[in-house]
Amino acid sequence: MKKPKNKKGFVDVVVGLQWGDEGKGKNIDELLSNGVYSGVARFQGGANAGHTLKLGNITFIGHIIPSGCLQEDIELYIGNGVVVDVVSLITEIAQLKGLGFNVAPRLYISNRAKLVSYLHPFLDQAEEHYRSKGGSKIGTTARGIGPAYSDTRARRALLLGDVLLPDFEQKESNLSEFHMNLLNMYREKYNFEYSDEKIKEAREKWLRAIKELKKLQICDLSFLIQKKLSEGKNILAEGAQGVMLDIDFGDYPNVTSSNTLPGNVCLGLGIPHTRIRNIYGVIKAYTTKVGGGDFPARIQDQKLEKLFQDAGQEFGATTGRPRMCGWLDLFALRYAISLSGVNKIFINKADICLTDKIKVVTGYKKDGKTLKEFPLYLKQVTDVVTEDMPGWGDKNYGVNDKRKVSKELALYLKYIKNKLSDLKVDIASVGTGPDREHFFNWDN
Ligand code: IMP
Ligand code: MG
Repeated sequence: MKKPKNKKGFVDVVVGLQWGDEGKGKNIDELLSNGVYSGVARFQGGANAGHTLKLGNITFIGHIIPSGCLQEDIELYIGNGVVVDVVSLITEIAQLKGLGFNVAPRLYISNRAKLVSYLHPFLDQAEEHYRSKGGSKIGTTARGIGPAYSDTRARRALLLGDVLLPDFEQKESNLSEFHMNLLNMYREKYNFEYSDEKIKEAREKWLRAIKELKKLQICDLSFLIQKKLSEGKNILAEGAQGVMLDIDFGDYPNVTSSNTLPGNVCLGLGIPHTRIRNIYGVIKAYTTKVGGGDFPARIQDQKLEKLFQDAGQEFGATTGRPRMCGWLDLFALRYAISLSGVNKIFINKADICLTDKIKVVTGYKKDGKTLKEFPLYLKQVTDVVTEDMPGWGDKNYGVNDKRKVSKELALYLKYIKNKLSDLKVDIASVGTGPDREHFFNWDN
């Protein structure tokens, strides 16, 4: 008997190429509306992410639910590489229901994903408190990401699939006891204060969410995705954060606790690398960073930085913190592209340009010497090399046709493409405003 043919479904990947907040949600939404994909999958990170999605007059900010939740026919996957904040998950499902989107029937969560426990955010704060003694807070989102990944590596984390097993209560109680011992250590040795009342509240909320979680579709997601692919269906893998926050290749320790690089898609979903097709990278026309650590491309003129912050609404979707704003950093971008193998980039917020002269960072210097390789620590960078470009003010807001782009922005796009020519990347599309139709295609 002939074996049935294994059809060639593929996985495309979208990652941020800067420090997160590149506006990936909008591009993912755009890609999903093309009818190419049947599902969208998160493969790393947790509720530290914040994607703002707009549909008509609906605005939804998701942290853990994959973007694509506003498209009825798209399946939503949360992979084994994700640390799942159940309270956020259940809250988002309820919020979406309130907006008229019943996502639960099309949401599938890996039984191998890890649970963020109610004590992880407290441990996150304790660790920040400890680090602040040495003057070096990371400025985490306080969502318990670091502690959840630490537990994963230490092999004591709770798996999503555990909630359905008879020994869950015992496992949970053992882990909570361990966490309380850690918190008490931070209290006794490092004067970290926590409130028993707040812990009690968090526990109750968490247990309620776990009850709801049990009603959701928890499954062997790798098996499910492989089945879809062999049926010829295509899937989009959605990165959270950005390449510059990757735990191995970002500016350690000012990074998140997961690998944000596309190389992690295979491990975070359980698929072979042979299924990966396109890798899309997302950037903004300028750069932002939130949290601690160095940021060489930062705009030095504080008034101008504030203008970018306000015009670009550069305040964290998860924490509300103002983001530092910088010029486009081509040195960091080249590093990010070469690590991720991106073949197409999306450039967002190209409408935001406030001056008639802008800068682009093209190199980093250390003690007067131009660096060839990306430095081990960004704090080693003593100066940056910049080039001036003409700005375009507010001329390009809402432009949705390549032919209507101002000559300064056209020059900027050609300049970027030229600077990246050896890396062979195309500029797929350019965003010019918050709405779905606010973009134009550039290289194709
Ligand atoms: P964590 O991921 O909460 O541990 O935070 C580690 C670092 O990554 C901090 O500097 C955060 O500000 C940053 N970070 C985490 N998630 C995001 C994101 O979605 N966008 C931008 N920065 C993020
Ligand atoms: Mg964000």
